[in-house]
Amino acid sequence: MPRLARRFGPVFGPSRASPFRTARGDAERLQVGCGLNPNGTCDFATLLQRVSKYGTLSAMATTTANATTYHNFIDGAWVPSVSGEVFENRNPARTDDLIGVFQKSTRADAERAIEAAARAFERWRLVPAPRRAELLFRAAQLIAERKDALARDMTREMGKILDETRGDVQEAIDMTYFMAGEGRRQYGQTVPSELRDKFAMSIRQPLGVCAVVTPWNFPMAIPSWKIIPALVCGNTVVFKPATLTPLSALNFVRILEEAGIPPGVVNLVTGGGDEVGSVLTQHPSVRVVSFTGSTDVGRTVSQNAAPSFKKVHLEMGGKNVIIVMDDAKLELAVEGCLWGGFGTTGQRCTAASRVVVHEKVYRAFVDAFVARVRALRVGDGADPTVQMGPSVSRGQLETVEKYVDIGQKEGARLACGGHALTSGPYANGFFHEPTVFTDVAPTMRIAQEEIFGPVVSVIPCKSLDEAVATGNNVQYGLSASIYTQDVNRAFSAMRDLYTGIFYVNAPTIGAEVHLPFGGTKATGNGHREAGTAALDVFSEWKSVYVDFSGRLQRAQIDTADL
Ligand code: UN1
Repeated sequence: MPRLARRFGPVFGPSRASPFRTARGDAERLQVGCGLNPNGTCDFATLLQRVSKYGTLSAMATTTANATTYHNFIDGAWVPSVSGEVFENRNPARTDDLIGVFQKSTRADAERAIEAAARAFERWRLVPAPRRAELLFRAAQLIAERKDALARDMTREMGKILDETRGDVQEAIDMTYFMAGEGRRQYGQTVPSELRDKFAMSIRQPLGVCAVVTPWNFPMAIPSWKIIPALVCGNTVVFKPATLTPLSALNFVRILEEAGIPPGVVNLVTGGGDEVGSVLTQHPSVRVVSFTGSTDVGRTVSQNAAPSFKKVHLEMGGKNVIIVMDDAKLELAVEGCLWGGFGTTGQRCTAASRVVVHEKVYRAFVDAFVARVRALRVGDGADPTVQMGPSVSRGQLETVEKYVDIGQKEGARLACGGHALTSGPYANGFFHEPTVFTDVAPTMRIAQEEIFGPVVSVIPCKSLDEAVATGNNVQYGLSASIYTQDVNRAFSAMRDLYTGIFYVNAPTIGAEVHLPFGGTKATGNGHREAGTAALDVFSEWKSVYVDFSGRLQRAQIDTADL
């Protein structure tokens, strides 16, 4: 058997996917989708090459003259929804660009996916973890090989600039390599026993079917943070991506399929959260729900899952602060606030939406910051000269406009921006000027509520204590940062800001995959993803005692014998 097939061939039996048809006419109607060609299609030769390399692959999508229709992935086959209904996915920078149509899944689709995952679990959990990891290493390699095409698809469907979508795909690569390494670790403990001829240890065990519900702002990174640790621990997955970014989700799942992840181990259902989400969070066979999104939806997820005692991992809102002290390197701080506030068009949970500046440097900071914000180039993220893309959707743009209005009514000073961009190259997209409010009071709504757009509130302060109090005085607790040259101030702020992530002399964004990611208060529910902390979400402990005395040794019974 060729080495590749031996190492990455089917792990348990042949694929249940329908056999790939090699007649040229059929193949021309198939589209593999991860943008191997600039138009997102895959040529016939590449298709055949993939088939011979990986065995059977069914059609992720069918293309007609009007549109490409993408399918769900259930039990190893790309299938339409039983609803027969689809929804459109359009480019937020150019809404006349129809990316494709995707399945509007129903309760029945979600149930089929969960049942397939439950069946597959009984076999996948028995595949040795290092063997599971081999497939994940292969997946990481495939993502790396296609990084640029995957990033282009992502920019097209959610708008962030190409450098950032490449970064998103890179996070998925990094996470996949990192977690695949856990296939040979997943360390437990061995401890001395209270009794002489007895051995005591703890091992990690998978839980079963994991429901993975992900947002649109990191459409490949965040799914990888959840799906890859779930798989390496031996769980199976039903994945529901945000309706705004189904293509990146399909691209990711397609790569897992190509890497040899067996049928039923990863299932994908696209569509709105109401119907599918309620099944995923309530079905008795689902044992873990991992959700990233808004605090309101997270609360509903938690309530839905509570009666059946599912393990629920929630990653929700943020209102992250950068503190700029009077001894800060001001240019560095300005640079950091620009990237932290307007990177990803402000659409990150970790975005620096509040900047608290010491009064002694307040004027100088505001002048320099506003000048830099005014100079930001806004446009289609596919244009390499553009620095900030559109909002992801009309709804998101309207939220930004709503908060700009609220900020003005609250009496904050609009220092720059404040308008949607609607003419010329912006006419068909959801663009908004990068916006700065100054002289913001910490209690104003624009300083309290998550906007998830290109709006930064600058708040003056008199001391570090006041800055820390302002930093903490929000319902969220994801990320915080301080710019200072004073190590004492840096460490005090690190201790006293009640967030899950903290930076010194760097913005609030840019967490790395091998440390825990998550937040306090309304940001999370105590779990962390990324790092080895993610293993705690996707596994549970079993304590194992082995008595090798050949007689009954009674623990917790006083005995004179030593
Ligand atoms: C998010 O904001 O939803 O730390 C995720 C960061 C990125 C991940 C952000 N690595 O900003």
